[in-house]
Amino acid sequence: TITPVLLCGGSGTRLWPLSRKSYPKQFVPLMGEETLFQASAKRLSGQGEGLSFTSPMVLTNADFRFIVTEQLQAVGIDPGPILIEPEGRNTAPAILAAALHAASTDPEAILLVAPSDHVVPDADAFHAAVARGLTALEKGDLVTFGITPTHPETAYGYLELAGPPEGDGAPVALARFVEKPDAARAAEMVEAGTYLWNAGIFLFRAKQVIEAFQTHAPKLMGPVQASLDEAKTDLGFLRLAPGAWSGAEDISIDYAVMEKATNLSVVPFDSGWSDLGGWDAVWRESGPDADGVVVSEHATAIDCRNTLLRSESERLEVVGIGLENIMAVAMNDAVLVADMSRAQDVKKAVAALKEKQ
Ligand code: GDD
Ligand code: MG
Repeated sequence: TITPVLLCGGSGTRLWPLSRKSYPKQFVPLMGEETLFQASAKRLSGQGEGLSFTSPMVLTNADFRFIVTEQLQAVGIDPGPILIEPEGRNTAPAILAAALHAASTDPEAILLVAPSDHVVPDADAFHAAVARGLTALEKGDLVTFGITPTHPETAYGYLELAGPPEGDGAPVALARFVEKPDAARAAEMVEAGTYLWNAGIFLFRAKQVIEAFQTHAPKLMGPVQASLDEAKTDLGFLRLAPGAWSGAEDISIDYAVMEKATNLSVVPFDSGWSDLGGWDAVWRESGPDADGVVVSEHATAIDCRNTLLRSESERLEVVGIGLENIMAVAMNDAVLVADMSRAQDVKKAVAALKEKQ
């Protein structure tokens, strides 16, 4: 059996105004009726391809704890342990806490760590990839999932394959993990054709990832272990101890462990994946019509091209005429209108508004 570990940390400011600090993108129905969190939990539940999953472990902060339980129950999933981080210290401390918690009952536990804000449309193909990844656990590897890059993205990690993939999707040894390269380096790596994007999904045994932390990020061990030892159970939530937790470095697992580890494998995965890093990605993943138009309920496009028009309010009709490469998202209290090419700058809107407050 596999224990899913769902990460629910970030606030997703690039999907403002839908994604808010108090209600980040993974908890809103962004595409279809379910939220990304619910879709992620469902993808990692039940049985499939000979896999069986336990109830998910969830790592989140106190503000989201009831949203998490409500949203899981609404799709018929019993929550597993819900660990509450006193403050976000990025993914390394969070994943180490999950591994130590799992290892306290079973050091051999197989963990599948996944962000809860990604879109993976083909769950069967994903399960098959996870099943292939299991074979690499036997030699003690940490398994990553690799996406064929389409452009020199600087927001992702890059996985350099030690050799050409077999074509059957079997795990390939990793020569190197490069987190968030600069633009020139990213371009080189895409050009080289021997690199895949890191999907941000990891598969490993609890004891193996703990060992990797001990080797590559030993300073995290003490604070994270102490925050678990001193944790308080509160209405079924496990609240990590704030004092100890604040001593853990704020760092992602990619920098803390993956860039340094030498026992990495990658399972190539090419059945669709997006981290919905902006409204342009939402537009693309929503299946634009022949004119490239995506409209929501309460939105109408007339003679528009490559445009996203979205209203989140029954009281607001949004109409676009003759628009090209525009994204417009209307909420009751805020409206975003921007050029599609500026999707990454939406976080600037959030910063600008904060300034005004
Ligand atoms: N519980 C918890 N606590 N979750 C967190 C925290 C935290 O402190 N920080 C981040 N997360 C969650 C985010 O909500 C997200 O679901 C996931 O962990 C990854 O964090 P991001 O901040 O989104 O990472 P990234 O997108 O910059 O980079 C990672 O993902 C890329 C693919 O989307 C890396 O793994 C890259 O290598 C990868 O390419
Ligand atoms: Mg991300």
